[in-house]
Amino acid sequence: MASTPETLRLDTAPTAAILPLRTRVLRPHFPADQLAHFEGDDLPHTHHFAAWAGDEVVAVLSLFLIPMPDTTQDAWQLRGMAVAPEVQSQGVGTRLLEHALIRQALVDPTITLVWCNARERAVPFYERHGFTIVSPIFEIEGVGPHYRMARAMPALLA
Ligand SMILES: CC(C)(COP(=O)(O)OP(=O)(O)OC[C@H]1O[C@@H](n2cnc3c(N)ncnc32)[C@H](O)[C@@H]1OP(=O)(O)O)[C@@H](O)C(=O)NCCC(=O)NCCS
Repeated sequence: MASTPETLRLDTAPTAAILPLRTRVLRPHFPADQLAHFEGDDLPHTHHFAAWAGDEVVAVLSLFLIPMPDTTQDAWQLRGMAVAPEVQSQGVGTRLLEHALIRQALVDPTITLVWCNARERAVPFYERHGFTIVSPIFEIEGVGPHYRMARAMPALLA
């Protein structure tokens, strides 16, 4: 049973821990025995993060080392951002995103950009977290309309 955001534990997570919630929230049409794997999920420089309420994963996101399209600079692509419907709009996604970006900035401070393909409905969430739209609207087949969005990684004090 999901609990309030105050009791959350935020940490990195193995791929297997994040896939069920990613699938349930972002690919609800998948058959019950199929999980939403993304290419690169198990690469060593891919980092998955989760929010746990007790033993239950209630939010997930993943950061893939992939330059933004039409650029060559190393960057983190944020993918699979998903919060369990029972705890959406309670600040869980905000806390997980901020935690992950700060942790990731420590992992490699030379990477200064994070970008994502944002579902149209999630654009206000990303804007609140400093992302701006950097593309025209485009369709991802089977998922719907998206905008590419990007922001600088958190700057850490030396
Ligand atoms: C988008 C999402 C990750 C935000 O996490 P969250 O914990 O609900 O967000 P927070 O509570 O930190 O921030 C609240 C804001 O998130 C956005 N939001 C909330 N529920 C949402 C939903 N079902 N879909 C899209 N955005 C949503 C709204 O902008 C909301 O602001 P409001 O409460 O003023 O309306 C989460 O709602 C979610 O998993 N949505 C469904 C899947 C999705 O759209 N993922 C993004 C793929 S690009």
